[in-house]
Amino acid sequence: MPNACNVVVLISGSGSNLQALIDSSAAADNPARIRAVISNRADAYGLQRAKAAGIDTRVLDHKAFEGRDAFDAALIEAIDAFAPDLVVLAGFMRILTPGFVRHYAGRLLNIHPSLLPRYKGLHTHQRALEAGDREHGCSVHFVTEELDGGPLVVQAVIPIQPGDSLDSLAQRVHQQEHSIYPLAVRWFAEGRLRLSEQGAMLDGQALPSTGQLIRT
Ligand code: GAR
Repeated sequence: MPNACNVVVLISGSGSNLQALIDSSAAADNPARIRAVISNRADAYGLQRAKAAGIDTRVLDHKAFEGRDAFDAALIEAIDAFAPDLVVLAGFMRILTPGFVRHYAGRLLNIHPSLLPRYKGLHTHQRALEAGDREHGCSVHFVTEELDGGPLVVQAVIPIQPGDSLDSLAQRVHQQEHSIYPLAVRWFAEGRLRLSEQGAMLDGQALPSTGQLIRT
């Protein structure tokens, strides 16, 4: 088995993706080790999930800092105390500065609830329904300076059903997030996934521009 891969997870809310990552890293053959969970909100439920799993937690309230640069500098310091090989954004609802993104170039992953490049930003499920899309889903990507725009690693595609509501669609997408995020993190931890000049590479091969597509 490859060496352990130190992971720091950043959250702002419920942390259901964090839970999926905690569950998956419990497997004996998964080299991913979540060393810390950091939240910008003290009331994020994900902090309780981390504590229940015996994982270190930190809270850095962005409102206590004067501007993004000061917050991101403090965030870097807090993260780097855990010597991460990988930093995972799991519902971390802050826009990161270019300096932060550059500091973690090639070792920063994000999950987004749409089939990127469609629906960057917020309200993705509503926008997919309003557009009359027949498919929707979620994406894991390397983070670059372009918001929700870095090279894609994996996308889960689901059909939009005629009777779908905002809730039913969001719930099915969330369920897919819980399977593709642990998959991508595990690939990275195993040394199979890398960011290169050509984009995201899996097992030495360039991934397609959509990332690996998983259809259900
Ligand atoms: C997830 O749906 C994730 O895709 C989304 O926040 C949610 C967090 O849920 N992230 C973004 O919208 C980032 N732009 P969770 O706290 O239950 O994991």
